[in-house]
Amino acid sequence: YYCRFHPFMRGVLVVEDSTGEVGADLVEFEQPLVVPRVVRGADVRLLMRQAKVRMLPRGPRTTMWTYGGSYPGPTIVGRAGRESRVTFVHRLPRKAGSLTTHLHGDHHASSEDGQPTTHLIRRGRSRTYRYPLTYGGDPEPASFFFYHDHRMDRTTRNNWRGLQGMFIVEDATSRRLRLPRGRRDLPLMISERSFTRRNQLTDPFAEGPTMQGHHGTMAFTGPGSPPDDHTVGSHVVVNGRYAPFHRVTATRYRLRLVNAAPFSAYNLSLSDGRPFVQIGTGNGFLRTPVVRTELSLGPAQRADVIVDFSGASGQDVVLQSVPGAEERGTGSRTAAVMQFRVGDHARDRSRLPARLPSPDLVTAPAKVTKTWTFDLGGDKRHGTFWAINGKPFDPARSDHRARLGSVERWRLRNTSDMTHYVHIHAQQWRTVSRNGKRPPPWERGLEDTWRLDPGEYVDVAARFADHTGPFMIHCHMLDHEDHGMMARFDVVR
Ligand code: C2O
Ligand code: CU
Repeated sequence: YYCRFHPFMRGVLVVEDSTGEVGADLVEFEQPLVVPRVVRGADVRLLMRQAKVRMLPRGPRTTMWTYGGSYPGPTIVGRAGRESRVTFVHRLPRKAGSLTTHLHGDHHASSEDGQPTTHLIRRGRSRTYRYPLTYGGDPEPASFFFYHDHRMDRTTRNNWRGLQGMFIVEDATSRRLRLPRGRRDLPLMISERSFTRRNQLTDPFAEGPTMQGHHGTMAFTGPGSPPDDHTVGSHVVVNGRYAPFHRVTATRYRLRLVNAAPFSAYNLSLSDGRPFVQIGTGNGFLRTPVVRTELSLGPAQRADVIVDFSGASGQDVVLQSVPGAEERGTGSRTAAVMQFRVGDHARDRSRLPARLPSPDLVTAPAKVTKTWTFDLGGDKRHGTFWAINGKPFDPARSDHRARLGSVERWRLRNTSDMTHYVHIHAQQWRTVSRNGKRPPPWERGLEDTWRLDPGEYVDVAARFADHTGPFMIHCHMLDHEDHGMMARFDVVR
């Protein structure tokens, strides 16, 4: 489905599918939001298994590939500075093949990074990942990551099937802040799926050659045009449920938003114009809160926001995605995402500090040390592919070496004619500049995934602390990643 926005009353969306057919989709918010169960402790063990999950309000449940029997998997909560060990036991059907789990946003060793072709989790076996939750010897900042499958060529399929979950890093400083907590601290994973008439996931990978990954040919829409690879769903889901509602009191809430969609971006807003006050990225607090009425999140991007529902008693507030003019060509879609039913006032002891304990940012070198360009490529052997610096992903080829302990400044440049969302593994990056200028206020904390519109470039800097070995840089539109837009760099002594 491609959806076009029409002003909607009480969540009525008029959608237009790819054939141009227009129909009304009445969004009724019939089922309650589920908050994934929280697991704490230094040792977490998760069974990867097939399970039936309630995604749609009526009819059969949907069979998914899960972490621990639910979709999303449980939210793992770790303590900054203390090692967290997570064991994944692979009990999924044969066709899942070997898997690998990446903790997106976290800083850890190459062997613990859940990379596409190494240290795989074989069926019937298990693997324990060790996350020290430290950076350069200090505890990692309080942050919000997500874990997901990262198997080469199959990442889109494996994520679509359900291998996704959230991970929160807590620290003592953030606990002292008196931000909304407990039931007023909601992790919200936004994604999307399409369903058959029996409520089962469609298989966007079964038809055509696109499933073969970048080593196969991609569905090609004509000379000069990009390969037709985008996995989008007809239903936007929050924590695994389509169009849920959630009862809130007329107080402040903390929403930890993650876009876990394979391909789509969301340009989020609240239906009554109420702002989000952004306090952090996924990787730590911003120095000062930023008031935003619209918040664009591409695949794997996260935002930590406060929403104040006071004054809205008795009202319904819809979290919606309405692409603005700047969102054209970004893969951003229209949707009524979920509904907050605002009840009575309640005692609210939370506070919104004017200054936040933002992590220290590295001082970037004046010169760019490495440039990465994102565009289409092609050759006889691979056909057309999404490329970085003209080449498709090859796990055996290293495209850059960075010295352990050094700080580098990388330029990420989009030379293609569509938006990409570029992610770099395992380091915490500061955005130095966007198109040569100071980045917008919400991009002044630590980041790991950047939106790059056609022609745009960002300069980013990080310290390569603690860990040597190979790491990945790739587009987080999973189809693009599977189709070659990934490269490897190595941290060396
Ligand atoms: Cu969220 Cu390399 O991935
Ligand atoms: Cu891309």
